[in-house]
Formats: sequence, structure tokens, C-alpha cells
Amino acid sequence: MVECKDLFINNRRYIGSKKRLLEPIQDAILKHFGRKKCKIADLFAGTGIVSDFFANQNYSVIVNDLLYSNFVAYQTWLSSEKIDINKVSTYIKSFNNIKTSKLKDNYFSETYGNKYFARNDAKKIGLIRDIIKEEESSLEKREYFALIASLMYAADKIANTVGHFEHYLSTPPVEKNLNLRIPFIPQRKIKAHLFNEDANQLVRKIKCDVAYIDPPYNARQYINFYHVLENLAKWEKPVEFEGKSMKFKRNHLKSNYSKARAQEFFRDLLSNLNAKLIVVSYNNTYNASSSASNNKISEKALEDLLKEKGKVSINRLKHKFFNAGKTRFNNHKEYLYVCKVRGG
Ligand SMILES: C[S@@+](CC[C@H](N)C(=O)[O-])C[C@H]1O[C@@H](n2cnc3c(N)ncnc32)[C@H](O)[C@@H]1O
Repeated sequence: MVECKDLFINNRRYIGSKKRLLEPIQDAILKHFGRKKCKIADLFAGTGIVSDFFANQNYSVIVNDLLYSNFVAYQTWLSSEKIDINKVSTYIKSFNNIKTSKLKDNYFSETYGNKYFARNDAKKIGLIRDIIKEEESSLEKREYFALIASLMYAADKIANTVGHFEHYLSTPPVEKNLNLRIPFIPQRKIKAHLFNEDANQLVRKIKCDVAYIDPPYNARQYINFYHVLENLAKWEKPVEFEGKSMKFKRNHLKSNYSKARAQEFFRDLLSNLNAKLIVVSYNNTYNASSSASNNKISEKALEDLLKEKGKVSINRLKHKFFNAGKTRFNNHKEYLYVCKVRGG
């Protein structure tokens, strides 16, 4: 049976998602700006759920991430461009009706089949992505993005992983029912500005009231977690892959914030930022027993860098904000730095 329940921007798993931290972020902004609707730049937006939360309250938002797969979601749920959702639904329903039994192999199944997905599921994903590409010229830009987002979220849901694509599970994948859902398109009054670039470049061009900064904190590269979705979204079909985990060549997508010189990049970001209030999320989601998981910028260094910009307060968040109740968070710290910029 085909199920087409509405799909929302937050219906995905994402490392470091701030799904549970919206309230403290909002409190920091309300404390400074009261009910005035200011302009918020979400510079490392990941899923985009922080921007979505504020856009739903008529804040104007600038949304950015280095990964194109995330930008596809912003174009779907945060854009104000036109979209015929009935047309999108018709495509999605026809995709869901594709039977897997007689499908031929394709780029996606040959690359990821029997690894991240059962072969037949991978064939279906690859075929649908090819159809979306072929149909591009008959679709409005936002409709094209909405179809890719729907496919990406559906593929992510059935992947043979622990929730990201650093590796696939050692147990062979079993065929699952790939089910694309129809994105729910909110009606909003505000216009969001969407970007897919290095935050350090972007801050040189924009002006905002609040900059929300939520960069990676350790050596684990986001592109390694989400390479399969990035490949599916871009559909450039690279043929060279590294290692068993089938990561395409992706040096240009590696974040400076996960490298040794992260602190320099953070300083550069702050010095080019034109904002009145800076809110920074800091956490250590990982068990720091591996060196890849150690934070690239120390808490003290972060505080000192922010102090160069203005008056800093630190909100050490309580456990209830980030623990869903299932995971043990012995080492987990979740901080929100709030910097009132001098002269801002
Ligand atoms: C901690 S996650 C953000 C999570 C997000 N706040 C959410 O709630 O989903 C960090 C994000 O920064 C992005 N990123 C890393 N380096 C970047 C850069 N130089 N410029 C822009 N985005 C970057 C990563 O792709 C990742 O999505």
C-alpha cells in the first residue's frame, strides 16, 4: 500500500540537529530583541530546522550550508518560489507505484546496491533520480527540488546504516518499501534567502541582526556522514570512490571547522560578521575516547574569541534539552554562547 503522509523538513535524522534546542535559542533572541521580528542568519544550518522554526514565526531568515543535499531541503521548505504541489504529488504517487521486480541495474544500484540498500531498492532510487533529472525542464525549480528532497528523505529512512553513511552495516541489507512522501509546503509571508557556500565567504556579503553559528566541532566531516545523499542530490555520477564505504572524491566539500586550523577560521568568521547578536552552539556529542571526536576549538578559546566582539554569556543547557531518554549522555555538554556585539 502506498502511503503519502505529509513530509516535513525535520523528518530526518541528522548528527548535531538542534531539534531539541529551539527553545533556548529562541529565549536568547527574545531576551535581546523582545517581540521585534529581526533578521536571523543560520550560517551552518544543517537540516534547516532552526530556520524553519523562526520562519514559521515570521522572522526573516538567511539559511546556509556547505552541503548541497541540505540546500535541496531549504529550497523545498523555506523558499518562496512557486510550486504546484498537486503536480509534485502526481509524480510522487507514480514513483511509489514502481514495482521493483523487473528493474534494470543503474548507477545508484551498481554503486550502493547490496551495501547501503538492497539491490532492488537501490535500482528504484536510481531510476527515480534519473526520471527527476529527465523531467527537470518540465518542472519549476522548487518542484524539482521538492522531488529530490522527497526521494532523499525516503532513501535515508530505509538505508542499511546506524543513521548516517560513514559506513554501512555488516549485515546485508534487506529489501524495504521505499515510500516517498509529499512535502508539506507552508504558506509564509517572509522571504528566506538560501545559500550553499562556505559560511566564511557568505558573511562577507550579508548583514543580519542575529547570527546563529552551529559549526562542526570535531574532525568528523559531515560530508562523510552524508556522502550518499549528497551524491543522490547532485547526480553528477562520479565513478571514483574511496574504500569500502564508497565515498566519492570530496575534498572540496570538507569543512575547515573539522581541520586543525578551525580556530583561525572561526576568528575569520567572527571578524567579518555584521550582526548585533551572535549565538553559538557548542557541544561534544561524541565520546571523546577517539581523537577524531575531540573538539577542534576549546571552550575557553571560543569564549575568548567571542569576547573580542562583545559581552558574552554562556548558557549551560540542562540535560532535558538534548536527551530524548534513550541515549546515555555521560560526556555530553551542550552550551549556548550569547554575545551582544559591541556597538551592535
Ligand atoms: C552541527 S551541524 C548544524 C546542525 C543544524 N543546526 C541543525 O539543527 O540541523 C553543522 C553543519 O555545518 C555545515 N558546515 C560545515 N562547514 C561549513 C562551512 N564552512 N560553511 C557552511 N556550512 C558548513 C555542515 O555541513 C553541517 O550541516
